[in-house]
Amino acid sequence: MRGISLVGLFALTCFTSAANLLPRNYEASDYYVLHLDSEAAPAEIAKRLGLSHEGQLGELEDHHIFSAARHEDDRVQDAITARRKLRKRGASQSDVLDSVKLAQKQKLKPRMEKRGIIPVTKDRPSGAFPERGIEVEDPVGVARQAEVKKILGIHDPIFNDQWHLYNNKQLGHDVNVTDVWIQGITGHNATVAIVDDGLDMYSEDLMQNYFAEGSYDFNDPGPEPKPKLSDDRHGTRCAGEVGAAKNNVCGVGVAYNSRIAGIRILSKLITDADEAIALNYAYQQNQIYSCSWGPPDDGKSMDAPGILIKRAMLNAVQRGRGGLGSVYVFASGNGAASEDNCNFDGYTNSIYSITVGAVDRRGDHPYYSEKCSAQLVVTYSSGGGDQIVTTDVGANNCATTHGGTSAAAPLAAGIFALVLSVRPDLTWRDMQSLAMQTAVTIDSADDWQTTTIGKKFSHTFGYGKIDSWAIVEAAKTFKSLKPQAWLYSPWIKVNKPIPQGDQGLAVTYEVTADMLKDANLERLEHVTVTMNVEHGRRGDLSLDLISPDNLVSHLSATRKNDDSPNGYADWTFMSVVHWGESGIGTWKLILRDTTVNEHSGNFTDFHIKLWGESIDASKATLLPLPNANDDDNHDADKPSSTISATVSTTSLNPVPTSTTTPLTTDQPNRPVPPKPTSTLTSSPTPTAPSDDLAASSTAAPSSWLPGWLPRFGFGPKTTIWMYAATVLIVGFCIGLAIYFYLARRKRLRNSARDNYEFDLIRDDEETEGLTGGRPKRRAGELYDAFAAGSDEEGLSDVEEEGEEYRDVARRGGMEAEHHVIGGDSESESEDGDDGRGEKDALRGE
Ligand SMILES: *[C@@H]1O[C@H](CO)[C@@H](O)[C@H](O)[C@H]1NC(C)=O
Ligand SMILES: *[C@@H]1O[C@H](CO)[C@@H](O)[C@H](O)[C@H]1NC(C)=O
Ligand SMILES: *[C@@H]1O[C@H](CO)[C@@H](O)[C@H](O)[C@H]1NC(C)=O
Repeated sequence: MRGISLVGLFALTCFTSAANLLPRNYEASDYYVLHLDSEAAPAEIAKRLGLSHEGQLGELEDHHIFSAARHEDDRVQDAITARRKLRKRGASQSDVLDSVKLAQKQKLKPRMEKRGIIPVTKDRPSGAFPERGIEVEDPVGVARQAEVKKILGIHDPIFNDQWHLYNNKQLGHDVNVTDVWIQGITGHNATVAIVDDGLDMYSEDLMQNYFAEGSYDFNDPGPEPKPKLSDDRHGTRCAGEVGAAKNNVCGVGVAYNSRIAGIRILSKLITDADEAIALNYAYQQNQIYSCSWGPPDDGKSMDAPGILIKRAMLNAVQRGRGGLGSVYVFASGNGAASEDNCNFDGYTNSIYSITVGAVDRRGDHPYYSEKCSAQLVVTYSSGGGDQIVTTDVGANNCATTHGGTSAAAPLAAGIFALVLSVRPDLTWRDMQSLAMQTAVTIDSADDWQTTTIGKKFSHTFGYGKIDSWAIVEAAKTFKSLKPQAWLYSPWIKVNKPIPQGDQGLAVTYEVTADMLKDANLERLEHVTVTMNVEHGRRGDLSLDLISPDNLVSHLSATRKNDDSPNGYADWTFMSVVHWGESGIGTWKLILRDTTVNEHSGNFTDFHIKLWGESIDASKATLLPLPNANDDDNHDADKPSSTISATVSTTSLNPVPTSTTTPLTTDQPNRPVPPKPTSTLTSSPTPTAPSDDLAASSTAAPSSWLPGWLPRFGFGPKTTIWMYAATVLIVGFCIGLAIYFYLARRKRLRNSARDNYEFDLIRDDEETEGLTGGRPKRRAGELYDAFAAGSDEEGLSDVEEEGEEYRDVARRGGMEAEHHVIGGDSESESEDGDDGRGEKDALRGE
């Protein structure tokens, strides 16, 4: 009897977890993601709302996908609003709807802006693309290269063109990997997932290392992320850089015995829900996620991932890889020529991603590679008259025009795979720390600052270029860092106009040793600053953070193309400059309105978060999952805080040096931040998770087994029986999944699937057009499940999920675009002439 019910439970579980990987049918259905109380039964919610439960949202506990027939209205929101009204009128009986903590109707993002491969001849000014090999080979380099090939038995035909692996012309201008290989460290047992437009698993160069279990196609749903569109080449090229096999096809990957998985998301529209699932896909096996894409690099976008994606990334660093944390590697972006900056991209400025920029084969900064204080390291890519040579789509095809920061990120990911192959026990923060410590400075930048721990940081190159030998050697004996801790300042109100010109508005925040001790924070790694600034022309603004040790982070820089009237709205900037500092002392922010013109603005408020290693590992906690409005100052209206920022106007150079004039006027007036109390939105001590945080209450690293399995507490015999049953059930599930998949395939084939995407895009364009640059919030966007009248009493038991983040909302149809970052590529520019100049320049490389 018990056996039968268990089988039923098993079947149900595998069915529901398989279901969230079933193809969506956006033409016929609406999809909702609901975050529920752990005790709530999704089936009851489904029944109450007339929805079908489609299963858990990937790896996010208590997040579920529901579907319903397509409808204009947001019926979940409507039901919740109705319920609120009832409750307000005093309805006392409970309603399962009260267990909904967040509800989000899913909407396809605008088509990700893919940059296909441009033929060498098309649109490229002749002569602007120098022939490879203008320098002469160095005889010493040639001899060493031949020796290395002999020792390792490398017969790959284009290995000699893979200068990023061994440069026989500019000696030393490569990733310094050959002696690592000779030690036998080639990526065994390490797995990199390429999140991109597919991976040609039938390429003879990739098939040997292809990792099917870690792979999935979210665009044409199914287990095989095979490139299908004519320009689905980018992911395969990236994969080749990581794991092209040592054989007689093309070249080799930097970790040529690693496993490579493909996660295809860039070839069609997807939703935040699917992207969240994708970024957690097989996260016990996939160790590193290589991402060569992001919001547009047009020098005017300012986009962050949606709340579900943010949650997925935090979930991955807390639970992925058995709790050691998934390693996300993001390309810094190709917008430097239009003054784009990786701090305007919420993926690259996340503390959970390693942001990788580019250096060219001459050791110069390639004009495209974005600078920012969140950039950790760089590695080799196109520029300086050459590109990256790698595997291409097809049985035996090689690519010779790969480049941009798109090519840098996977190269870094491959080197991190070498690290994990010798030290699979390192955490995501250990990897960042190793990359920071072992990077090598590059002469061609002139903006190096010596940090507190004696490292050098440049906004152009981060901590420098990755040296494979150095990072692998350091990894061998690396002592894992203690868990993460953090100190949040309260929101600090400024409410002052920003003077125009070289003048800056300086505000300070004082951190004491006691505050850090209370926060269990020993030394810093990342610093984030979230702020609100109203300004008529965002591109005129620049922002510097100066630490107590007098190191300067250029959190934001001016952007000539950025005409946005939206200022900074709860935007979070990030810096890795202060790595290793204690944090004790006065932190100073200097906001400048650099241009004297009709556009002026006000600095509203900010808060600072210091992140780093804990003092006492046993007291460390896991960070709660973020809420949509975590970084919003929703206390702004309350007369809450007794804290007043010290605000003073000062005249400093536009680019402050480390000898910034101390703002003596601040001293008498120094803010005295009280020990933050529970009434503040932020707390310096790692507090126990609130009711939103079911995830962190199961803090222990989860194994790949479903958490409920061991909880039955049966004896050994029963357990063995259970496992036997599992085998049967898995078989049943597979059959079920195949059946479902085939059935869905058939249905899809019979539906005019291709049309709806076009319609939706047109819809978005219309929205944009209608708003005429005055962005407005689109219907169906993330909304607050309890939005209407959230000020009313009686709701203190629910987490309010505010509008995700104002800039996004205001920007209307623009917000969710992603696009591939590739120096060798072209995009369909939606803004006509505007971006042309840069795009041509890009091609000219
Ligand atoms: C790969 O992992 C397996 C199992 O942990 C281990 O036995 C093997 O030695 C590893 N291979 C290498 C090359 O490290
Ligand atoms: C590059 O690797 C060699 C060993 O092959 C090593 O001696 C050298 O120190 C490495 N470079 C750096 C900067 O560590
Ligand atoms: C700045 O604040 C002043 C005074 O409150 C206001 O008149 C002005 O419109 C504000 N500027 C912007 C750009 O919001």
